[in-house]
Amino acid sequence: MLLIVGGGVAAYKALELTRLLRKAGVAVRPILTAAGAQFVTPLSLAALAEDKVYADLFSLTDEAEMGHIELSRSADLVVVAPATADLMAKAANGLANDLASTALLATDKPVLMAPAMNVRMWQAAATRRNLAALMADGVRFVGPDEGAMACGEFGPGRLAEPPAILQAILALLAGGARPLVGKRAIVTAGPTAEAIDPVRMITNRSSGKQGYAIAGALAALGADVTLVSGPTALPAPPGVRRVDVESARDMLAACEAALPADIAVCVAAVADWRPAAASGKKIKKSSTDVEPIALVENPDILATLSQAGRKRPKLVVGFAAETHDLEANAKAKLAKKGCDWIVANDVSVAGTMGGDDNAVAIVATSGVDRWDRASKAEVARRLAQRIADTFAK
Ligand code: CTP
Repeated sequence: MLLIVGGGVAAYKALELTRLLRKAGVAVRPILTAAGAQFVTPLSLAALAEDKVYADLFSLTDEAEMGHIELSRSADLVVVAPATADLMAKAANGLANDLASTALLATDKPVLMAPAMNVRMWQAAATRRNLAALMADGVRFVGPDEGAMACGEFGPGRLAEPPAILQAILALLAGGARPLVGKRAIVTAGPTAEAIDPVRMITNRSSGKQGYAIAGALAALGADVTLVSGPTALPAPPGVRRVDVESARDMLAACEAALPADIAVCVAAVADWRPAAASGKKIKKSSTDVEPIALVENPDILATLSQAGRKRPKLVVGFAAETHDLEANAKAKLAKKGCDWIVANDVSVAGTMGGDDNAVAIVATSGVDRWDRASKAEVARRLAQRIADTFAK
């Protein structure tokens, strides 16, 4: 996609947006306006985009490499962030006196603008008119948010947060189509925490990143998502209903309460065992009666949902973290749990647990689909798309 970075204090957020887009596997070709270059440097933008920054309409080198008309048409989507009052005015009126406005006039692709400006400029009659004209031309908008502004005023005009712009971009890149509208999905994520006493617990190193990314990707395709999450440090993705739980038993109860559903994706690293009886009081070091902690098995949420009879979601997906014999173990797990797919996750690679990348294979009774190592966000998008394709058949 083409990212036009306009001038404004919020331009620094375009760098974060670029980073998030690259992490999600989206190619970013930046255009930096002259005003934008007062706030972020071409070097930072190029480094994060991993591409050259285009800035000059009359650059012979750029024209030789890629003409400006071709530049605006080679991308799937044109995003303007921050979209200043000036850029909006130019685009609304068809002005084309620099590379950014020329690209906006010449493109035949969807355009998404994330406005950012002083609240009075946003509310000015001219900006209202330009906004109405752009919307009538089919331009989409994300934000602006309301809040304190760099100029000291308060109100609408803040650039939408980069994760929200990212979601809007991913939805548009998915064709703007929302194939999962009307479908209900349950996603479990994160670790569970099993109490030993009021201050101690058994838990694990799951970060929740992959599960949260899947919840966000399903929501971006229009699904109504309930994210049942163990303790994590992550914010809920936009548009997702989050239910916080601690123990495996709470997680199961929350999943059952979220039924009926069309889709269940169990990504949580559920503790297989819990202390047979959690002590109501803190166990003291001086205690004479400290005994080995007896464990009992936790309910298997994936297996329970897979075998829920009439209430079984049409598609149940489990994860398998394996260090060896990935596909053989995943096939055995598919049969044992009774789910439809297992996303087999190779955790033998250092940095996978808690890291940003994942190497997975989708194991179904119909066969195995091996995916290249990719960011967890990209794995989530591909999985959500595969789920949507399955419902489209
Ligand atoms: N899972 C679950 N409830 C449990 C245990 C696991 O829902 N009590 C789900 C996980 O969310 C994951 C899948 O089951 O989708 C695989 O979990 P895993 O722990 O790998 O499976 P186990 O049956 O525990 O097999 P093993 O530990 O022998 O690999």
